[in-house]
Amino acid sequence: MSNVQVMDHPLIQHKISYIRREDVGSRDFRAVVGEIAALMCYEATRDLKLKDVKIKTPICEMTGKELSGKKMAVVPILRAGIGMVDGILNMIPAAKVGHIGLYRDPQTFEPVEYYCKLPADCDEREVFVVDPMLATGGSSVAAIRMLKDKGVKNIRFMCIIAAPEGVERMTREHPDVDLYIGALDDHLNEQKYIVPGLGDAGDRIFGTK
Ligand code: PRP
Ligand code: URA
Repeated sequence: MSNVQVMDHPLIQHKISYIRREDVGSRDFRAVVGEIAALMCYEATRDLKLKDVKIKTPICEMTGKELSGKKMAVVPILRAGIGMVDGILNMIPAAKVGHIGLYRDPQTFEPVEYYCKLPADCDEREVFVVDPMLATGGSSVAAIRMLKDKGVKNIRFMCIIAAPEGVERMTREHPDVDLYIGALDDHLNEQKYIVPGLGDAGDRIFGTK
C-alpha cells in the first residue's frame, strides 16, 4: 500500500501559493519550483538509512553518521519535471539523472512516450521520479511502468500539485511507490487540468505560452 505524504511545511505551502499566481513570470516560476523541489526532497528523504562512520575533526576523533543505503537517481518526466532537478541535486549532488519523455495527447489525454535515457545502474538505485503535476496520473503511471520494465524496484514519486484522481490511479496501479505531494487540489476540469492548480507547468517553466 503506497505511503501518501502531503507536505505541511509552511515554506513549501507559501512557495506553492506564490507559483500558483497567474502574474508570476517564467523566471520567478522556475526559481521557486527549484526551491520547492529542494524543500520537498529534504522532507521526502527523512527515512534514508544511516551508518556510523569514524571521522577525525581538527579537535579529536568521533563517530559520525553517513548515508548507508542505495545510491540515488532522479528521473524527471519531460518537460516540466526538468524544473525540479537542480533543486534536488542541490540536496543530493551525487545522484545520477535519467530522463523520461512523455506528453499528454491533447485529445485523449493519454501519455505518449518519446524518450527514455536512464543511468546504466538505475536498477540498483533508489529512484525519485519527479513531475510538478499529477493530474489524471497517466504520465506518472506510464513513467513508473517504464522504470519497472527496466528492473527498477525502489521508486518514489514527487510532485508539487496533485489531483485526487491522479493519486487514486497511482496508488491503485503502483501500490509499492510512495508519493510525496506538495499540495492536494480539488479536482480536474474538462481539459483534465488541475483545479485550482497553476495552469500548464511546462509552459510556465519554459515560457512557451
Ligand atoms: C504535464 C505534466 C505531467 C502531465 C500530468 O505534462 O508535467 O507530465 O502533464 O498530467 P497527467 O497526470 O494527466 O498525465 P505535459 O503532457 O503537458 O507535457 P510537458 O511537460 O512537455 O508540457
Ligand atoms: N499538466 C499541467 O501542466 N497542468 C495541469 O493542471 C494538468 C496537467
